[in-house]
Amino acid sequence: MEVKTVAVIGAGIMGSGVAQVSAAAGYDVVLNDIAEALLEKAMATISKSLNKMVSKGKMSEEDMNAAVARIKTTANLEEACKDADLVVECVFENLELKKKIFADFEKFCKPEAILGTNTSAIPVTEIASATNRGDKVIGIHFMNPVPLMKGIEIIRGQLTSDETMEVTLEYVKKLGKEPAIAVDFAGFIVSRLLDVLMNEAVKLVQEGNSPEDIDKAMQLCAGHPMGPCKLLDLVGAEIAMHGMETMERDFGDRYKPHPLLKKRVMAGLLGMKTGKGFYDYK
Ligand code: CAA
Repeated sequence: MEVKTVAVIGAGIMGSGVAQVSAAAGYDVVLNDIAEALLEKAMATISKSLNKMVSKGKMSEEDMNAAVARIKTTANLEEACKDADLVVECVFENLELKKKIFADFEKFCKPEAILGTNTSAIPVTEIASATNRGDKVIGIHFMNPVPLMKGIEIIRGQLTSDETMEVTLEYVKKLGKEPAIAVDFAGFIVSRLLDVLMNEAVKLVQEGNSPEDIDKAMQLCAGHPMGPCKLLDLVGAEIAMHGMETMERDFGDRYKPHPLLKKRVMAGLLGMKTGKGFYDYK
């Protein structure tokens, strides 16, 4: 099976990034969210990111215009799904919402379509249980910022078929990215390790360390590209908290999100997306 059309469901930071890299790789893309205003915002984000690529000489202006022209938007989920060979679900980290969308995929998608989820921590098999097409469901975990990160975590659910795996790996290759295969348990590889790191950084802040020093220590003493407080601001505090809660649910207390992490989420200190986390982005 060859993928020609990719539907991206959810036009937030991750969905915009997935739509962008898919269109840049030559796929026809349909980007969906519940409101036109969200789709307009996503297209503005995509244009800004592509313009940055052009200004850095990573892409020609002609290729940028062709990529933008390949992206259609719609606020109608059925419309988005009907011609898709691959759908990539990028909605909030909410199991009930994801299950509802996967139940809709079953109604609206072609029987042969591959149903991908970009969940950062929820087991793929759990999401797949909302459909009768477990063989078509797979985890395609893009990393933030999607246009810059080389790796994509691929998670095979309990029922994922060999063909679904092969076609998905082909898609990853065409995006110019590298797959890292992870086993289907809460948090997979990346969130399992990074969420714990970021939660621990929040504990360090509670104990009196400054975010600046924590980040400096991890960048200069451990060679991380970005310190954990800055990383938490990039991925969003609510995403890391949800990842911890999912792992706590499945593996026990050692994954409990720190109370300060929860408090910061309640206060809206989510990071770059709200303009304020450990650092100011306004
Ligand atoms: N599109 C285009 N350009 C972008 C961009 C985007 N979306 N985001 C950033 N850039 C640009 C920056 O503006 C910058 O441009 P200038 O040089 O003109 O300022 C350029 O890319 C490079 O940025 P930096 O100078 O900051 O370069 P860097 O060497 O520090 O690299 C980074 C940035 C790639 C993000 C690097 O810091 C890094 O690898 N950080 C770790 C990120 C990470 O761990 N991501 C995974 C998080 S986990 C996740 O996403 C999964 C989950 O489920 C939570």
